Amino acid sequence: MSTPELKERAAQHAVAAELKSGMCVGLGSGSTAACAVNALGKALQDGTLQAIIGVPTSEATARQAVALGIPLRELHEVEGLDVTIDGADEVDPALNLIKGLGGALTREKMVAQATTGRYVVVADESKVVTGLGQHAPLPVEVLPFGWRFQAQRLARFGAVPRLRMADGAPFLTDNGNHILDCTFPDGIDDPQLLEWLLIALAGIVEHGLFLDIATVAYIATPDGVQRLGDGPGLE
Ligand code: A5P
Repeated sequence: MSTPELKERAAQHAVAAELKSGMCVGLGSGSTAACAVNALGKALQDGTLQAIIGVPTSEATARQAVALGIPLRELHEVEGLDVTIDGADEVDPALNLIKGLGGALTREKMVAQATTGRYVVVADESKVVTGLGQHAPLPVEVLPFGWRFQAQRLARFGAVPRLRMADGAPFLTDNGNHILDCTFPDGIDDPQLLEWLLIALAGIVEHGLFLDIATVAYIATPDGVQRLGDGPGLE
């Protein structure tokens, strides 16, 4: 089974298991979250789900949701979210995550923190790691102003930072900022400590460590979808 098929499988499973009519739903970003948005659009079209409001985590997701006819609100227009479904770049055994390879980490984390109900991760099995930083770089969103100084600071924390580029120019997030993709040659020893160090630095807008946020993860394998977090099992 191909990776896109696994992503599709995890997303469809999560939408069927987690969404109920009338919910306010955070719509994640990236290719797996896009499968979930498609599944939601289909469920609204065939009447399986009704009266859902979506809050998108990126401009790309907003465009996709509009095309599917999913009613949307901005984050500031809702009281809180019942559930958010989003992808991840790494998922550790405690459901701590690295996110942001799609560049949407700041809005994704704001929507995650506004989620009063369940935060649902959808991923294929390649995203599961024993410790964060083993495979994926940690994306750090920085203000363009003085970004080289942030890169130097990050190097002091053991990171090898690289300015993300797109079409020969620095990548710009939906918020108009740059991304430093930080690899950690020995993995991330202490994600909590790193989080503290990162949030103390002016100019760092947000980082892709999502610690103690996820409620459940639906991980697709060729043998089925594994639910991690609240009652593990193969479904
Ligand atoms: C977007 O900024 C990211 O956080 C994505 O959720 C993450 O990169 C996973 O993306 P894929 O589902 O495309 O692998």
